[in-house]
Amino acid sequence: MKEKIILSGMRPTGITHLGNYFGALSNWINFQNEYKGYYFIADWHALTTEYENTDSIKENTFKMAVDWLSAGLDPAKNAIFVQSQIPEHTELFLIFSMITPLSWLERCPTYKSQLNELSEKNISTYGFLGYPCLQAADILMYKADAVPVGEDQLPHIELTREIGRRFNFLYTEIFPEPKSLLTKTTALPGTDGRKMSKSYNNTISISDSPDEVAAKVRGMVTDPARIKKDDPGHPDICSVYAFHKVFSENEVDSISVACKKGEIGCVQCKKNLIDNMQKFFVPIHDRRIEYLKNKDMVYDILEQGRKEASIRAKATLEEVRKAIKI
Ligand code: TRP
Ligand code: SF4
Repeated sequence: MKEKIILSGMRPTGITHLGNYFGALSNWINFQNEYKGYYFIADWHALTTEYENTDSIKENTFKMAVDWLSAGLDPAKNAIFVQSQIPEHTELFLIFSMITPLSWLERCPTYKSQLNELSEKNISTYGFLGYPCLQAADILMYKADAVPVGEDQLPHIELTREIGRRFNFLYTEIFPEPKSLLTKTTALPGTDGRKMSKSYNNTISISDSPDEVAAKVRGMVTDPARIKKDDPGHPDICSVYAFHKVFSENEVDSISVACKKGEIGCVQCKKNLIDNMQKFFVPIHDRRIEYLKNKDMVYDILEQGRKEASIRAKATLEEVRKAIKI
């Protein structure tokens, strides 16, 4: 049977926080025995919003590779590479930009909402409008069967299918339709109870040291009704409890009961969480230390990924050129 291909990418934003880990990476890792994976760091996509400030893209790209590898993404099972090292993406992007109606891009919901949200940046650019076209090139290049993404990316996968269909209709049937695999979002809030987000400065990152994790948990907001240790609490509105649900599977029920009865204090409750989180992170931190000691290992893996991705990209482009007779 033909090997199933799974593909996804992330823009190099500098840190991989626990929201990114449970919302994306941990799913990728779960898929790695079932599919052949192509995972890339989308540094060209980072340019769409960061073109005025490109100083840290390269460094963030390396950091992201270290985060992925230390999280357990296996380079023996997946091609892990950097988008800008596969120039074929630009050629396919150019060809797709010729056949994609402007109206498809203009009505894309992420386009409209980002223009509003990032109003401090000038992103009324041709490249930003074409963001989904580049993403379609990323995906169709490898003829991916499945693309694991968060909900916000669904319109881009739908556009990818539309662009692929249009190409197949105009020229030759080359591209299969990729399906999106909606990754379950986690209920993990940030340390202040809001959504975990780099821009709120409330993240816990997979690169945080055990001491940093402990300090952040100690600073987390809990149920404001609990002033004295034996005040009855409401675990369902407490961020620490939301973390217990993820990191303390066997204890969640007893924690909930003890909190509601005022039998456990928040300090103790946080201590338990810190222990469980630190245990969870041991293998991740160990791998991270190894990779940082030996950075060439990371560059070698990215080079290996580049080679593998390049073979597939070149083969697709050959078919594409033939189909459009250029
Ligand atoms: N747009 C995606 C994001 O912001 C990143 C991305 C780029 C991507 N190319 C992709 C994701 C291809 C999946 C497939 O998260
Ligand atoms: Fe939250 Fe635990 Fe305190 Fe209850 S005891 S409010 S769950 S930190």
